[in-house]
Formats: sequence, C-alpha cells, structure tokens
Amino acid sequence: MTNERADEEKRMQDTQTPNETSPEAQAKPPAPAAKKKATHKKKNSHKHWHLEKDDAGIAWLSADRANAGTNSLSAEVLDELGDILDSIAASTPKGLVIQSAKPSGFIAGADVKEFVGLKDTETAAHLIRRGQSVFDKIEALDCPTVAAINGFCLGGGLELALACRYRVADEDPRTRLGLPEVRLGIHPGFGGSMRLIRLIGAPSAMGLMLTGRTISARAAKKLGVVDYAVPARHLSNAARHLIQSPPVAHQPPRWASWLNHRLLRPALGYYLKRQVSAKASPKHYPAPYALIDLWVAHGDDPKAMLAEEAFSVAKLITGYTAQNLIRVFLLQEKLKGLAKTAKGKKEVFKRVHVIGGGVMGGDIAAWCALQGLQVSVQDRKRESLAKVMQRAHKLFKKKLKHPRIVQAAMDRLMPDVEGLGLRRADVVIEAIFEDVEAKQNLFKEVEKKVGPKTIIATNTSSIPLDEISSALKNPARLVGLHFFNPVAMMQLVEIVTADLTDKAVAQRTAAFTKQIKRLPLPVKSGPGFLVNRILMPYLMEAVVLESEGVPAPAIDKAAVDFGMPMGPIHLADTVGLDICLHVAENLSASLGGDIPKKLRKLVEAKQLGRKTGQGFYKYNKGKPEKPSATQDSKLPADLTDRLMLRMLNEAVACLRESVVDGEDLMDAGIIFGTGFAPFHGGPMHYLQHTGVDILHSRLQELAKRHGDRFKPDAGWSSLKEIG
Ligand code: NAI
Repeated sequence: MTNERADEEKRMQDTQTPNETSPEAQAKPPAPAAKKKATHKKKNSHKHWHLEKDDAGIAWLSADRANAGTNSLSAEVLDELGDILDSIAASTPKGLVIQSAKPSGFIAGADVKEFVGLKDTETAAHLIRRGQSVFDKIEALDCPTVAAINGFCLGGGLELALACRYRVADEDPRTRLGLPEVRLGIHPGFGGSMRLIRLIGAPSAMGLMLTGRTISARAAKKLGVVDYAVPARHLSNAARHLIQSPPVAHQPPRWASWLNHRLLRPALGYYLKRQVSAKASPKHYPAPYALIDLWVAHGDDPKAMLAEEAFSVAKLITGYTAQNLIRVFLLQEKLKGLAKTAKGKKEVFKRVHVIGGGVMGGDIAAWCALQGLQVSVQDRKRESLAKVMQRAHKLFKKKLKHPRIVQAAMDRLMPDVEGLGLRRADVVIEAIFEDVEAKQNLFKEVEKKVGPKTIIATNTSSIPLDEISSALKNPARLVGLHFFNPVAMMQLVEIVTADLTDKAVAQRTAAFTKQIKRLPLPVKSGPGFLVNRILMPYLMEAVVLESEGVPAPAIDKAAVDFGMPMGPIHLADTVGLDICLHVAENLSASLGGDIPKKLRKLVEAKQLGRKTGQGFYKYNKGKPEKPSATQDSKLPADLTDRLMLRMLNEAVACLRESVVDGEDLMDAGIIFGTGFAPFHGGPMHYLQHTGVDILHSRLQELAKRHGDRFKPDAGWSSLKEIG
C-alpha cells in the first residue's frame, strides 16, 4: 500500500465511525439502494437506470432493471447505460457513483439467457465488444468513478465495478463478489480478465477467475478488489469521500507485477494449468485454459488483452461446453422456480423436527440449523444424538467460522429424546432405518401429535410412499423428502409424491426445500424414485465388468473420461457396498435384473467400501489405493458404452413412466443428483445431441453381445419421433 493510500485508509476509518463529524459525513447521503430514494429528487429516469445529481455535483447512477427483482446486464440494459454514460461525459460531473436501486444486490452478472443458442463467433464477438465499449466509457470518464456495492456483484456486475476507478462494498455477509464465468464455460469478457489482473496482480486474480469462487466484502478489501468495506449505512458517504478526496487508485503488490513479466508468465501459466488439470480436463472444460493462454500471451498489453479477451470468449461461448453449462444454469433456475407457491404470501418455515439421528437424520438436522431454522432431533439412543451434535459442530465450524455464529447455530439445534419438538414443528422429517412397519408405526404416532398444517415427510430411499402412508388416517399428508448423502454436498432433494399425495403439500415441501437452499425435484413414487433408479444399472454394470476381469481403475477412468465426477466403482465404495446392495435388491425385486455375485461376496465379508477401509479398493486415510491403469488396447472396446448406455436406457424408461415431468427435469435431476457430466447438458440432451438412432442401435448391438439388460426400452420409439 502506498503512503497516500495509508493516509486515505486512516481518513476513511475516521469517516466510518458512527459519530461522524466531517462535513462530508454530515451531508445527507443520496440513497444506498432503494430505501432512501424518497429523500432525493429523481432528475432523470430511464427504463433500467436512474440518474440523479446532488448539490455537490456528483452524479448518482442507480441500476434498476425493469420488471426484475435482480439486476442483470441484458443488451438493452447495457445499451441504455452506454447512452447515459455519453450524457454524463458531456455534463462533466464532479464524480460518478454507480449503485443499485435493488435491495437484492448490485448486479448479478450478464443476462445468460441472451447467450443461449449463439452459434456464430462473429456475432458473439460483436456482442462482447459492445459490452466492452460501454465499460470503456466508464473508464474514460474525466472524473473519479466509484461502484458502491451491496449484495451480489458477480460476473458482468463486477466487471462493471472494475471499470470504475474505486469500489466500496457493504460489509454485510450477503455481499458476494466474484467472476464465476468459468462455471458457465467462459471467462470474463467485458474487460474483467484484463482489469482484475491489472488491479490485484495475476496470482490473486487468476485464483479468483479460475475457480469462479465468490468472496466477501472484507476478503475483497484484503485482496484490493474493493477500496473500502463499510457498513451499509456508510456506503454512500464512503463513495462520496472517494470522489471528493480521490486517492491513488489501487496497485497490485510489486512482486505480483514482476510475475506479469513476459519472461515469467509462461512458467506461471504452466504451473496454473497443472493446478487446473487436477480439477478439470481441457477437453471437457476449455475455459480456464483459454484464460491462462490469454494472460500468458498478452498479460503486459492491456489493449491486446482486451481485444483477445472478446475473441476468446466468443469462441468459448459458441462451443459445446459453454452452451451446455448455460443450459445447466438455467435448469437450476428452473428447479428453484418449481418451489414457487401459487399465489399469496410466501410461507416461512421456522421449526423442523427430525426423527432418527443416524447418518441422514443427523446431517439433515444440522443442515436445517445451518440455514437458520430451529431444529429438534429425536432418536431412541442418546449416543446417536451426541454424535449428531459433534458432527453438526464440525459442519458449523467449517461453514460459519466465527465462534459466536457457530454457537448461535448450535443453539438452534436441540437433541430431543422425548420428541417434544414434534408438536410445534412446521415440518417433520422421518429418517429412521429403512423398515416399512417401523415407519408406519412411527407415523401413526406423529399424525396424532402434529398441527394440522405441519408437513409430514419421510426420507425413505426405497419404500413406495403409499405403503407407508396407508397407516395414516390421512394418507394425503405424507410426502417424500429424499435427501442424498452427504447432505451438505448434494444439492438435490427429491420431492416424492404418490397418487394420493396432496399436491399443495408437495408444493409447500418444495418451497421448504428451497428455503434450506437445496434444489427440489418433484418425482413420482416408484422403485428407487429417479436418481437411485438411474444410478443403479450403471453401478451394477461396473461391478459386472470388474467381475469379468476389467481392472477397477480402468472402469473408473472410462467414466471419468466421459465426464463423470467420480468413477462408478469408487462411487459404490464411497456410498457403501451394503447400501448399494440394499437398493439394488429393492430395485431388482420390482424391476427385475440380476445382482452381481461379487457385490454380495464383498458385503458378506464386511468389506463395505471406504467406511471399512476395504471394498473394491483398499483405503488409506480415506483415499483409494488404485493400481496403475491398464493399457487402453487391452480393455473392451464397448467399456464406456456399457456403463453409460445402461444409465441412458433407464433414463428413457423413467421418462416413459413419467417419473419426472419431461426431459428438462430429467436432465436437471441426473446432473444435480449424480453429477452426470454437466458439460453434456444432461443425459437426455446428450442423447438428442449424439443421435437417438445411433445410441438405439448401439444398445441393440450390446443386447446381442451381452444380454437383455441392454434391450432398448420401449420409450426410445417416442424419442425417435421427436428426434
Ligand atoms: P441409520 O441407521 O444411520 O440411522 C437410523 C437412526 O434412527 C438410528 O440412530 C436409530 O437409533 C434411529 N431410530 C430407529 N427407530 C427410531 C424410532 N422409532 N424413533 C427414533 N429414532 C429411531 O440410517 P440412515 O442411513 O440415516 O437412513 C435413514 C433413512 O434415510 C432410511 O430410510 C434410508 O433409506 C434413508 N436414506 C439413507 C441414505 C444413506 O446414504 N444412508 C441416503 C438417502 C436416504
């Protein structure tokens, strides 16, 4: 930090105290967001932006995208901004503050819907350059410019802020800054790649852009992404202060500037690529590699970097990966949308009672408490509840960090042997062991004690809902709320309904799921519901292949090369072979199919996978010891097809049986429930893209070679009609 900046820092701290006395602090702040708008005259209102000028000659420009709860940068919003900036440039204000008029946050990014279906790189490059030219206008203004940031400031939103000379951010934990473009298969394109590197140096900037992670205002202050992190009430004053006494703009540390040297960039680029390759292959996820190449080639030439940035993003965004990752983003939004209750006031759930404090119940209870709900967790055994509290504490410490906030979360989680929390609960979630009779008996008691509006849910993974609900006086009340293990990592929750289930109850359950920051997927009750049903044939085929002598690491590698996050053998070991066997037995009882002998043998030998230290692999500190992979030439040519086509065939069967409502929900469910290669856009999307006829005939060939388990499902014929 330079001396001037240190002085400024000190002055800012002075203006941040609640008893401010400086003249600028005494002046009335013009509106941090919507709340204080009433105190100011609006001088110039546009469709998506409001421009005001205060007595000191400072222009205050507020983003307020029409008909939207959140600001995003559509072409129209950007064009309007461009015109306003022209008029600001002509009026030479003392300074410009860009802020948001929405309480939800600053700007959440570009409007990704506008990128859907972009095929032509020229058109894409034109769109991107248009955005760049708007942000260039901010940078070119002849006066100090400040972005006053509250809430989300992501992607294009942060790129806009980076085009300002200074940034101040509300220190509230809800403020998140980041450039998460790699998650959409691209990298920042509106000048963000160049400007962030210029501002904080390549190592820190690359760390943010290559991971796509978001950071708090305080972390952003430490990195130099923002100049000040202040309480919301001081945001406007901090911005005004920067305009009235502009300090030297932030510079990266000297060592970071050295690393930007033409001779050093290739070495750092090589190192960065090696780091990225541990997480994502260049074939499936080219964006981070393109960003590194861009910097290595043009890191010391901002002009060239900006021009090439547009070209690089145009190439990426029209490609297979980005188009599919954008699809995944929109599918995620679609799942969140399913949680919307029809009309009226949004229901807020406050109290949850979980019955069964085992692997699942304990983690569900902890997750709900983490999300701010009051939770009671009931188990017959006190020891189980003690373990729940220990695990919860570990989770809270990891996620919340601050001891005071961790303690507050612990206070929200109550061990409850007698089940006293039942009577006041808004939602009851049963997670006792998988036994119909035990669950029926439990629900008979639960139904007597809960209020009339309480949601009664089961976390069963395999018992048909109507078998359990038959014990209830009102079977329409029971709904399935099927979480996946581990709860804190798996975003998807299946909302399971039987014919009798009350639709309004299912809808409220979806809203509850969204409230606890999980993605609700409505599915019809049936064997394995959706995710387990589709996963199981894939896992079983992997076991068959292993029994035939194909080495487990080679099977896993084939799936990972296809784009799965983890191979099927490794996954089975991680889930637990006893659980896999249990689900497989349940499914084969209703849907037919053999269970590989090897699976039973390992379970009988108590070699249950990672949890016992030995399954298909031997485990050392939780990590599998994988012998080196076999040469590809010695592996069956149809290895990948045997794994993936069994999964796809089951997906087609589920679609035919309407287990989920349509191809989009199928894709969403399988991506978020199994991790199915997101860059393929989901199983149904992959199937349509590769060709229904091609995959259908490959299945027929597999059926000839390996048996009826590969016989194409009847549902393929209707897909052929669409395709
Ligand atoms: P678990 O065996 O780890 O825990 C069950 C707990 O319930 C035990 O602590 C037991 O003491 C308690 N319990 C049994 N009867 C009770 C009663 N009447 N009142 C109070 N507590 C009682 O079982 P886990 O694995 O947590 O499974 C629970 C449910 O979640 C099952 O229905 C299972 O199918 C489902 N599930 C399990 C998944 C997994 O990966 N383990 C994944 C998704 C669903």
